[in-house]
Amino acid sequence: MYILGIESSCDETAAAVVRGGREILSNAVSSQFDVHGKYGGVVPELASREHLRAITPIVRQAMDQARCHWNDLSAVAVTRGPGLAGSLLVGITYAKAICFARKLPLIGVNHIEGHIHAVAFEAGERLEFPSLALVVSGGHTHLFEVAAGFRYRLLGRTRDDAAGEAYDKVAKLLGYNYPGGPVLDQLAVCGNPFAVRFPMAKMKGNPLDFSFSGLKTAVLRWVQAHDMEAEIAARKALLRANPNPRVDEWRNLTPQRTLDLIASFQYTVIQELLTRAEAAAEDICARSLVVSGGVACNAGLRSAALAARIPCPVFFPTPALSTDNAVMIAAAAYPKFLRGEFSDFSMKAQAGLSLA
Ligand code: KG4
Ligand code: ZN
Repeated sequence: MYILGIESSCDETAAAVVRGGREILSNAVSSQFDVHGKYGGVVPELASREHLRAITPIVRQAMDQARCHWNDLSAVAVTRGPGLAGSLLVGITYAKAICFARKLPLIGVNHIEGHIHAVAFEAGERLEFPSLALVVSGGHTHLFEVAAGFRYRLLGRTRDDAAGEAYDKVAKLLGYNYPGGPVLDQLAVCGNPFAVRFPMAKMKGNPLDFSFSGLKTAVLRWVQAHDMEAEIAARKALLRANPNPRVDEWRNLTPQRTLDLIASFQYTVIQELLTRAEAAAEDICARSLVVSGGVACNAGLRSAALAARIPCPVFFPTPALSTDNAVMIAAAAYPKFLRGEFSDFSMKAQAGLSLA
């Protein structure tokens, strides 16, 4: 059974063919980093236009790589939300057109559910329920209890910025490129994570909720107090000359105290994520923890999660499946296909779609 997955919720246009929910036959992704890099974040109008340009070649690439013909497909799965409305519409309209022309069933998938299913390729049958899912990306920071059959209960979520958004905003403030997570992650290893003590967020009400806006403001105050204009201007100049610098170029323009600041910021984000994951895992007697979404690529988070006091096995998707991709959309569609849960052509883009 072949499912073509399509993902276009933010700044990646992606298509993939997955057989039987588990075998990846192709994984094509076109990222828009060069388009948005100089703005320090995604510009929605530019994103939709780039999706329009990329969608046909990316779907063709996925079908060719998989050596798949339209007649081989059993269904087309597409992200219906959450995400940017204009971006979602491109993928949804394309998927509907294929289904209409080829008389195929259409399956709408929640993007966050896709991120959780990305772990299926690593965990396989070892994923025991109830599972705790920590979804950490540029748009989301959520904790879900996942019961057998993939039924979800929201345990906590960010009240302001997502963790990836905090990375992107701090990177922009310090003069680095978008997306900020990969750059700061690579620079953090050269700094002292205990050099700057940032306060942890205290949540009134639900203690499993997150907040990252205070940390972002604390970094801003630190920058304002430490006379960093010249080094930030030097990095901005590099970025104007080259929209995608290598990490060693950034390293040359980053003094030790800034490396320490970055390491301390990263340490605080990881503590915020893992203290709540530990508490939630205990609360629900989790038998597995899934960490997914773009921030799950973070090397510091990966090693800290494996060392943390989490009373169950921890699973991360491979980095290529942690950031946005269409393999995870096809994988999440597979159980829906088996249950006959199809969408009809009235399916709309839902920018604020929730999972639970
Ligand atoms: O899942 P994703 O590709 O898109 C969304 O659904 O948002 O996640 C992108 C986010 C960006 O904010 C990016 O800075 C962050 O994931 N990210 C990272 C790393 N790689 C990507 N954050 C921290 N460390 C990384 N290595
Ligand atoms: Zn995502």
